[in-house]
Amino acid sequence: MGVKLGILGLGTVGTGTVQLLQEQTGRNPLLQEVEIYRVGVRSLDKSRAVELPKDVITTDLEAIVNDPTVDIVVEVMGGLEPARSLILKALRNGKHVVTANKAAIARFGDEIFTTANQAGVYVLLEAAVGGGIPVIQPLKQSLSVNRIHAVTGIVNGTTNYILTRMQTEGSNFNDVLVDAQRLGYAEADPTADVDGLDAADKISILASLAFGGRIHLQDVYCEGIRQVSKTDIAYAEKLGFVIKLLAIAKLHSSDTSKLSVRVHPTLVPKAHPLASINGVYNAILVEGEPIGQVMFFGPGAGAGATASAVSSDILNLVATLKTSTANLNPLLACSHQDYCQIAPIAEVVTRFYTRFLTRDQPGVIGKLGTCFGNYDVSLESVVQTGFQGELAEIVVVTHDVREGDFRQALAEIQTLEAIDSIPSLLRVL
Ligand code: HSE
Repeated sequence: MGVKLGILGLGTVGTGTVQLLQEQTGRNPLLQEVEIYRVGVRSLDKSRAVELPKDVITTDLEAIVNDPTVDIVVEVMGGLEPARSLILKALRNGKHVVTANKAAIARFGDEIFTTANQAGVYVLLEAAVGGGIPVIQPLKQSLSVNRIHAVTGIVNGTTNYILTRMQTEGSNFNDVLVDAQRLGYAEADPTADVDGLDAADKISILASLAFGGRIHLQDVYCEGIRQVSKTDIAYAEKLGFVIKLLAIAKLHSSDTSKLSVRVHPTLVPKAHPLASINGVYNAILVEGEPIGQVMFFGPGAGAGATASAVSSDILNLVATLKTSTANLNPLLACSHQDYCQIAPIAEVVTRFYTRFLTRDQPGVIGKLGTCFGNYDVSLESVVQTGFQGELAEIVVVTHDVREGDFRQALAEIQTLEAIDSIPSLLRVL
């Protein structure tokens, strides 16, 4: 029997999730167990990017969370109410919940998780922090054997986009904000993002997972980026820093029974792994013992990325529902038996860097070019860099070529009287 989903909301995230679940080729076969049973929307009249049977779509969201046949409620409507009440009702009705709602979890996590524990069901929230970046599950599972010292993140794409543009263009905050709004990178009301509130919600969730305790959101110190000026960015640059809005949760330096949880613009040394995270991307650096440093990087928002995170939670719950004493957990067991087809290296398409030592005589570069051309190898650059003794040193970088064609060209080149040797051959990314 399939696992029945009741999805609350068909905005960007809901639509992305439905699309992912409807287009299953190449994805985990366990998704075939999922049935999109009900989708709750505000209005039936809106045109949609996904096709769903008429009887699946409803405006009665209460009916979804009260429907005894629904196994998992996927809350992707956002906002505080009615999201909170619907999540709580679903949990009390014994349904597992998947949510992308960082604002609701950061404010009502205590109530939501207490209710879930009492009902014996799960609330999964991979999409709530870092969009498509898997960071919740790693903190709950793979990294949980470590003693975590610090979690430091760039967890808001809007502010990272604005700061990156201020840095690269030398522009003012206000000018970039207006342009970001025009381009759709910032909301019409940008408060939650630029004042650091969205990042505060997210770091309170990460802190809770990393340090194993609940966090009162009001204890999270929060400063946004409105006061960051282009002058500060220019001085920071001269001093070897970039300015990033960091969300930080770490053990307090003088009393490790306490945490420091904060969001503020921060000068980050250029060599630090978070310094090169630019544009709308997010990254979360986790530091602990004995692991050292691990960094998660990726798209922090967007339909596809967030749908990936929501669907991975759904998959986890499907695996849980399918696991019994008779069945292994399909996500932990190896469930495939067939071998993958691997393309031989000759069929790989890549760029090449090659260094030739040749006699210094007329026409050598021409002959090289002709041989490459004979085998469909297109060159990106050819430079004669100097001499090694009597021999000229010629470096060639190709465009993307089939390795087999490149090797044939090289074999022909090796027969040329002018070629002494080919000391280096490297692939270029
Ligand atoms: N508004 C968020 C950001 C995206 O700019 O990162 C969703 O969490």
